[in-house]
Amino acid sequence: MLGHLRSWQCKDSRLLREITLTSVATLRAPEPTPARRSTSRRYVMCRPDHFEVAYSINPWMDPGAPVDRALALAQWDTLRRCFESHGHSVEVVPGVPGLPDMVFAANSGVVIGARAMSARFTHPERAAEGPAYHAWFAERGFAHLVAAGEINEGEGDFLRVGDRILAATGFRSSPAAHREVESFFGRPVVTLGLVDPRFYHLDTALMALDEHTVAYYPAAFDAESLDVLAALYPDAILAREADALVLGLNGVSDGHNVFLAARAHGLADALRERGYNPVGIDLSELLKAGGGVKCCTLELH
Ligand code: ARG
Repeated sequence: MLGHLRSWQCKDSRLLREITLTSVATLRAPEPTPARRSTSRRYVMCRPDHFEVAYSINPWMDPGAPVDRALALAQWDTLRRCFESHGHSVEVVPGVPGLPDMVFAANSGVVIGARAMSARFTHPERAAEGPAYHAWFAERGFAHLVAAGEINEGEGDFLRVGDRILAATGFRSSPAAHREVESFFGRPVVTLGLVDPRFYHLDTALMALDEHTVAYYPAAFDAESLDVLAALYPDAILAREADALVLGLNGVSDGHNVFLAARAHGLADALRERGYNPVGIDLSELLKAGGGVKCCTLELH
């Protein structure tokens, strides 16, 4: 074996060094806080040019309360620039007048590689967003593009974590949509049940941190789902109510930087302890529609 290695050395000393380093590394005990690595991501966002709270389809929305659209635009722009300054690309979809919730691009669909499925909304107020986003996906060009046949609110309810997709039902997306996504993307979909109307989409209750880890608010899920989550993610960060109530879990992670509500202090501390870099974002105006950082962001996986 050694002779075999030595014979490589003269040809490629770099390769030999790598082999030696690998064998040393395997002898070392695992690090207590693994070093996190960010990877560059592609995001899709929709400017809140037509944002307002004109109807109420979740407990956060009060059409009687004033909304400052100029402030919403400024906050949204800060998020966009923050993604870009961390090395991510952002594509912007034009908003459509009369579709105030279109800013929540996460709900537009699910995109993995060349496969894209555009959303089909629960409420008539948002129904026209499905075809609007579908048209944008078609123009952008994906080899395999379909419109969801079942009620499916995109990345609001379908979060890719490594090879699997976690999917929620209870308020919006249907269990039939979970099966539809599973067969279209050819990846296992794990069904989770949401029980608290304030956390009506999966991305309000659970955040994917990297391929292996998530953070979630346990009280938002039914008992069966809690068993599933505990079995799949024994190392998950369990968020407290105070952080969930500022939509702290509605964040976006690039593997190291985690963009999340600036007011989610407890969750930010927990992330820091695990080696992540929390980046606080203030989206107070969009919160009036029940949305946060992740709601504004579709990832092109
Ligand atoms: N007002 C929108 C709704 O209730 C907010 C959507 C937030 N999006 C999300 N991905 N959670 O549908």
